Parts: sequence; C-alpha cells; structure tokens
Amino acid sequence: MTRAGGDRTFARSTAMQDRLHELVPGGAHTYARGSDQYPEGMAPVIARGEGAHVQDVDGNWYVEYGMGLRSVTLGHAYPPVVEAVVEAARAGVNFSRPSVWELRAAEEFLEQVPGADMVKFAKNGSDATTAAVKVARTATGRDLVAVCSSHPFFSTGDWFIGTTEMDAGIPASERALTVGFDFNDLGSVEALFDRHPGRIACLVLEAATGTLAPEPGFLAGLRRLVDRDGSVLVFDEIITGMRWARGGAQGLYGVTPDLSSWGKALGNGFAVSALAGKRELMELGGLRTEAARTFLLSTTNGPETTGLAAYLAVAEAYRQLDVVAVMEEQGRKLADGANAAAAALGIADHFAVVGRPSCEVFVTRDHLGRPSQEFRTLFLQEMLERGVLGQSFVISAAHTDDDVERTVEAVGEALMVYAKALGAGSCTGLLRGRPVAPALRRFAAPRRIPDPSALQPVERTTSLQEEA
Ligand SMILES: Cc1ncc(COP(=O)(O)O)c(C=O)c1O
Repeated sequence: MTRAGGDRTFARSTAMQDRLHELVPGGAHTYARGSDQYPEGMAPVIARGEGAHVQDVDGNWYVEYGMGLRSVTLGHAYPPVVEAVVEAARAGVNFSRPSVWELRAAEEFLEQVPGADMVKFAKNGSDATTAAVKVARTATGRDLVAVCSSHPFFSTGDWFIGTTEMDAGIPASERALTVGFDFNDLGSVEALFDRHPGRIACLVLEAATGTLAPEPGFLAGLRRLVDRDGSVLVFDEIITGMRWARGGAQGLYGVTPDLSSWGKALGNGFAVSALAGKRELMELGGLRTEAARTFLLSTTNGPETTGLAAYLAVAEAYRQLDVVAVMEEQGRKLADGANAAAAALGIADHFAVVGRPSCEVFVTRDHLGRPSQEFRTLFLQEMLERGVLGQSFVISAAHTDDDVERTVEAVGEALMVYAKALGAGSCTGLLRGRPVAPALRRFAAPRRIPDPSALQPVERTTSLQEEA
C-alpha cells in the first residue's frame, strides 16, 4: 500500500472495527477515537506509528495530526523515550516501595514548574484534575465546583461528566454541585461568587485553549477574585502543559494557580500525569498534616516506572530542543498554506485553520456559513483519501516540512471537492456515508424528538469533537 495517498482500501480496518464494536463498548476505548468520529467505512485501525506518520492494518500510511489526542509532541516511537522506557522496564516496573524514578521525576517536574511546591504522579489527566477538586474541597470545607463552560473537557469524574450531555448514571445531587462560568468574563465569575457566597471550593479552567487565549488581565483578575473569596484556583494544564510552553500556560502567562493538573505531553504518549501545587494543599494528602487526611491519588499503577521514565526522557528532549518552537513554526506553515488554498478557491469564509500554531483545528462551514458536520465529514473523507489522518491539525515536532507540504497539497485538493459541495449547497453525491457526530452526545443514534432533559445546567460552548 501507499505512503502518499492514492487508492486506499479500508477493508481490514472495517472488519476489525466491526469486531471491536462486538467486543468493546463504543468500538474504541476513548469516545474521541470512535468510528463515529470518522467518515463511514474510513475509520483506520492503527498498526504502528513512526514520527508524524501512522500505518493502518490495511497497510496505508498517513501523515497524522491530533497526535494521540494531543499527547505526542515529539513524534510516535521517539527513540530516546522508547529507550528510556525499555531500560526502566528491564529493571522491573512496580515495587512495594517508591522507586528512584519517582524521586527523579518529582525533582525534574518541580524544576520545570517553579510555581508548584509538590507533585504527585498518576496515570490519567482526569484523575489528577479530580484530585485537585477533592483537595480544594478539603481545604475550603466547601462543596461547589465552578468549571469554565467555554472549555470542552476536564475529567472523566462525575463532577464534570455530569455537566455534559452524556450524564446518564450520574445522580442529580452530584450534578447540582457543579456550576459554570465563562472564559474571559470576570463578571461571570463575580456573579457566581455572589450567587453562592462561601460555597465555591475551586475554579477549574484551562488558562488557554487552542482557540481561546486569555485577554490581558483575565487570569490575574481570576487570581484576585479567588484570593478574595478564599477558594482555590485550579489550572488544567493537560493540553497546555509542554504544548504551550515547557512550564505550561501558568509560566507563559505569569499567573500561578494553587493547583494544576498535567498529563498528555508529559509522557509523549506513555501513561503519566501529575497533580502539582502549593505545599499546604498538597500536604493534605500526605503524612505531615494534623487535618483529617485526604485520600490523594493512591493507586497500584500510579508510580509504575515506565511512565516516569518516559517523562524524564521527554523532559530531557525539551532541554535539547525547543520543542514548542518547532511545533509552532510548523503549525504556522500549515495554517498559512491551508488558509491560502481556501482563499485561492474563494471559500475562506467556509473553511479555515485556526488556533494556536501548536494546537490547530479546522473550522468547516456550509454554504450558508453554519458549522456543519456534513462538510466536516466531507473534508475528513477527502483528506483520508489523500493520506492525511486527523480530526484536527494538532501537530508535533516530528512533522517535517515535507509532511506539512504534503498536507497543504492534500488540503488544496480536498477543498476543490469541498468547493463543489458549497456550490451545490449540499454534500449529496460527494459524501459517501453518514456525517460524523459530537463525541459526547446524549444518544448514540440521532433521535427525532428532542429530549427536554438534555438541557444542562452548565452549557458548553465548545465540543470535545472540535478539540479532539
Ligand atoms: C483539557 C483536558 N483535561 C483533562 C483531560 C482528561 O485527561 P485524560 O484523558 O488523560 O484522563 C483531557 C482529555 O482529553 C483534556 O483535554
């Protein structure tokens, strides 16, 4: 099969995907990796990855974007990370006492994130963010959690999933404890504190997202409001950490949260996450406290050494190379090329690559300028056919000029088909299957009668799909 596009078959992927649906609910561990996120019959099952490329089980190679839901910044199978992991694995990975890897990783991390005094590692970002909420509740003795409604995802914990459309199985009593505020809107935060005096344990937000940068003064203003209220400021750095800057968004924007959760890029795809923050908060989960102890991220696999070894090798790679600068440079070239292709076809109002260069997404609008799943799917279909796999254009430092040029070329060709659909006012006849759908929707299949209970107390303004 081919590396550069051409005739692609998805026969083996499709058979394996069917089998996955039989054996694994949703047919994929992660909803954002589901076959419903890809054009029908074009959901590749991956066999291997190398740098910025992946190969599926039919033998097709792709330039990949998204990079393991943004976890891979150095490229797939980055040799120094793989070697560090193999070396750690050879020495045994799970002991009855802490390992040298835990100490080394903690020292490295706290040098990287100087605003934090202590760190505890885990395996998933969700667990780290949920632990931050728990510590905040202990420290403040308050029960409400305020989450930024402008951001699509914080955790698999019920305190957050209860705010999404997919809230089945979460008691109303749990859902009632999470309230929302808007990004870049200090007024919405003040209103929340006024509405719930002395009840908000913490504010949870990303300091920035790919498409939403903080306005000057917003994060500092939040810091002031939180301090005045006596609650806890939590930055979710799971995407921003080591993708915006080595020291995360907190270092870049110069505002230090009380707690921050990290994951994704820490391990270049290996399972390692972290909760970091102020000593007086973190020690609530330790042994040097007189307060009732908080059960903080204590699991069998939390300190397993391959994830920690991966993190140490990633940290070393960031010392050797300005990884973020490389991602930003390549991302800029990609956006410029793709947007120029859209402009050349006169469809720049309908298709655009937007966002921070290290974390870009594409916007797909129909002939009337409305966000469109059909047009998104048509674009994905045409890109897959041309050897580009990605629900976004989230890049890595492994994407070479050649990868970017091939992608821009594919975008140019895909947009010719897109322009035809715009001209026709419909994707009919061009889109070969059903459109994709939001990852966190209430029902798997479309329903005719809208369910009034689908109305949520915390109204999201971005979807996980756009951010995947
Ligand atoms: C901003 C943000 N926070 C938290 C999480 C949860 O991380 P994990 O999937 O590692 O549990 C995600 C996952 O996509 C995320 O994007």
